[in-house]
Amino acid sequence: MSTATEELPRGIELTRKGFVTNYPPYRYWRGDVAQRFLTPAPLNIYVHTPYCVQRCAYCHYKTTTLSENRKPEIDRYVSSLCREIELASKRFDLKARPTHSIYFGGGTPTLLSKDNLSRIMDTLREHLTLADPEITVEGEPVTLIQAKADHLQHLGVNRISLGIQSFADEIVLKTGRRDTEKQGLKAIEIALGTGAVVNIDLMSGLAGETDATWAHTVETALGTGVQSLTVYKTELYSNTDYYASVKKDAQFLPSDEEEVKYAAHAIKQLERANYLPVNFFTFTKGGGFMQRHTTSKWRGDDIYSFGVSAFGALGNISVQNTSDLQKYSDMVEAGELPVARGYQLSAKDLMARDVVLGLKLLRLDRKEFQRRHGFDLVKLVQPTVDALVGGDFLTVTDAELALTRKGLLWGDYTGRQLSAAVDAVAS
Ligand SMILES: C[S@@+](CC[C@H](N)C(=O)[O-])C[C@H]1O[C@@H](n2cnc3c(N)ncnc32)[C@H](O)[C@@H]1O
Ligand code: SF4
Repeated sequence: MSTATEELPRGIELTRKGFVTNYPPYRYWRGDVAQRFLTPAPLNIYVHTPYCVQRCAYCHYKTTTLSENRKPEIDRYVSSLCREIELASKRFDLKARPTHSIYFGGGTPTLLSKDNLSRIMDTLREHLTLADPEITVEGEPVTLIQAKADHLQHLGVNRISLGIQSFADEIVLKTGRRDTEKQGLKAIEIALGTGAVVNIDLMSGLAGETDATWAHTVETALGTGVQSLTVYKTELYSNTDYYASVKKDAQFLPSDEEEVKYAAHAIKQLERANYLPVNFFTFTKGGGFMQRHTTSKWRGDDIYSFGVSAFGALGNISVQNTSDLQKYSDMVEAGELPVARGYQLSAKDLMARDVVLGLKLLRLDRKEFQRRHGFDLVKLVQPTVDALVGGDFLTVTDAELALTRKGLLWGDYTGRQLSAAVDAVAS
């Protein structure tokens, strides 16, 4: 009969000494981590409004239009939002954490009445600890009248993001929106007048776009003096009118090559005017005016999201509320949190997420990645990093992996390649 000792690799002594109390051993434990543990982590808040003036032809968001008088329905929705804030705050002790950012997204939050906006803000103040938060409100230009803007200022809103999409009226018309260049410019002026940091969204690759219409849009956008410009690539989603008309050959959409050309034109003009990239799609004056909310989102920080279909994350669990408006209100009124589905991220998922979302901020800090996950990212996925450096998508230094100018145009592609490699190595 062989003994256990004979089966052990050489150099390893068989012993029953050394009770394992913990992992890792105490010699690795540090005071700064104790301090981090004692400091409540900042919280970010998202509040969803599902209502819009119209359903835009390209838009995939789950929204509902305001064709009839739906005031009672909207009032009920806002009451549900307030109740959900109260319920979630109690359930997760959200008041114990400093709220650093609040983002009113949609849909079109600027459609909400002044009373309803006040009700939501009052409820957030009552049930959370607002720590001089960044407060952003999204809006469609036609909905931002002076009285509404004054009210936003009164509520402490310090960032306004307007969906302009295009300054070429004929292009906007094809999207089903009613905004005109004149109205867009007026709304921007009103927004800037509140003292808020103003962002405008543009979309490259809308139906009917030409070199001339796009050049006009970019030039006009630069002339507004807004602090921040976001250029989204138009994505074609199956639940949109664009998709339906492309299927019928009725709608002309720019090709992928044309869209890349438009995006590249915008980047060049923006950089010339000293609007520098802060993520793949947002360019700010001098690279300043960092937005806490989106930065936190791409870093994977906690975001608690209120409202129908809203999604957020606490720690390593991501959750989404029900997308059914009626069910949302019914559940909240019954005292239940309206959470419908979730995902628990494994250690591998967290690494892949930090890569694919973190790269949206243009660079990945190697030391920070190692601190969070215990691996040097470059060594972990060296062949993929080499291929991306060879293709001129990335540069690598001891400190970071950074997107090149070409990588900026192919940002999600680069992030997906890296995170897929992380996923494969860790499997
Ligand atoms: C929720 S909307 C916010 C503002 C407001 N609802 C509006 O449209 O004016 C956020 C932004 O998403 C972008 N967006 C919507 N559908 C898109 C798509 N199919 N592809 C790319 N960007 C899209 C638009 O630029 C829009 O301004
Ligand atoms: S783009 Fe804005 S206004 Fe248009 S449907 Fe989407 S969320 Fe609503």
